[in-house]
Amino acid sequence: MKLGGGLVLTAALPGWPVLAAPTVREFRLTPHANSAAPLAGPPHGLTKVWSYDGSVPGPEIRLKQGERLKVVVENRLAVDTTIHWHGIRTPFRMDGVSHLTQKPIAPGGRFVYEFDVPDAGTYWYHPHERGFEQVARGLSGALIVEEPEPVKVDRDITWVLDDWRLKRDAQIDGNFDNRMDMSHGGRLGNTVTVNGRVLESFPVRAGERVRLRLINVANARHFALAFAGHNPKIIALDGQPVTPHEPEEGRIVLGPAMRADLIIDMTGAPEQKFSVTDRFYRRQEYRLLDLVYDKAPPLRANPMDAPIKLARNTMPEPDMKSARRHEIAFAGGMMGRMAGAMLGDQQLDIREMMRRGKMWAVNGVASSGNVMDPMLTLTRGASYILAMDNDTAWHHPIHLHGHSFRVIARDGKPTRHREWRDTVLMAPGEKVDIAFLADNPGDWLFHCHILEHMAGGMVAVIRVV
Ligand code: C2O
Ligand code: CU
Repeated sequence: MKLGGGLVLTAALPGWPVLAAPTVREFRLTPHANSAAPLAGPPHGLTKVWSYDGSVPGPEIRLKQGERLKVVVENRLAVDTTIHWHGIRTPFRMDGVSHLTQKPIAPGGRFVYEFDVPDAGTYWYHPHERGFEQVARGLSGALIVEEPEPVKVDRDITWVLDDWRLKRDAQIDGNFDNRMDMSHGGRLGNTVTVNGRVLESFPVRAGERVRLRLINVANARHFALAFAGHNPKIIALDGQPVTPHEPEEGRIVLGPAMRADLIIDMTGAPEQKFSVTDRFYRRQEYRLLDLVYDKAPPLRANPMDAPIKLARNTMPEPDMKSARRHEIAFAGGMMGRMAGAMLGDQQLDIREMMRRGKMWAVNGVASSGNVMDPMLTLTRGASYILAMDNDTAWHHPIHLHGHSFRVIARDGKPTRHREWRDTVLMAPGEKVDIAFLADNPGDWLFHCHILEHMAGGMVAVIRVV
């Protein structure tokens, strides 16, 4: 107890530097439509983008676990917007989903987001109003919550991975809600950027240990990154600590909205270079960039031998014995076998759904409009298994708001790491079981993070009361 200082310490829970009055970190984010960025680099000119305060991606927000985040948003766009804090377990009213958790912020309007940040990790923020356009135009940014005792590294680096669809003049293709993208794999672009630039190379130093935070903010592109000549270890997925492990087949897979924290020891020699390639799409492998070693002598002779395991976050463990099970089927899209679904109060066949631009369904319902009845109502404090079935010909990164969940099984087989996530990638035809304890009251979106699929009906609400 510290008396007279205005600061009262409470008994700290393990890993929780709890103060009675947490430090408030205040930021301002001003979305506007009149900036330009050198996305594609010479010989191309600048690309007109929408941005937070002129920067693409938006400014990186950094704070410490247990602190309180306050963000004053002033909307200088000509359209409504909101900000969603992807992966952070906020109170319902701070979740930034337009028409569900708040009225959208009108042009010229202001909204103050303020909430405690319970967990460390790599998160991001983006609008949740016409995301398929606003995110594609450049509105998104990294949100990093530092552990009280971070793992020891020489550099902590963030790569915001994005994918843009640019026309020949390097301007953003304005064809946003077309049926073609919507019914297939979403809006794939033609220009992949790292922190808002097409990068040729990324400088590294021999012997250094880097924590690399990867964030996929693309509307629809998946990545599977391979680091030639290096041996990255995954230490966190979607911000949540995981048993440190090497990626399967040496590829770090990131569907839209997904994140991975890597530890990479730069074991190459001065002046060497190694490529980082993206191998997600068959026969469309490309070099993302090269890791280029500078001339400096190695920082150390052998890789640093500090531990790389992160302390656990504060997620309550689901009780698997009492967990109630719900089946959730995702269907629709091109080359699928869905015959039809409910849209509004009508049962429509798939051709009519396609015509109306709603061709995806969750448990037989394609969402329309903004206000949605819950698909499931869960009891606060109880544990649940969502047994999900991707009955479509496409990959879907499925995201739950307000909670993180454990990925417990894939096609009936227990997963190796039972990883915590907020977005889980389902391959075509795959079944994935997730488990969580419903502890955050509110109406939470549950949707595919391919933003065109979401616009095409692949979204539902899960209520926790
Ligand atoms: Cu990244 Cu519903 O959001
Ligand atoms: Cu999808």
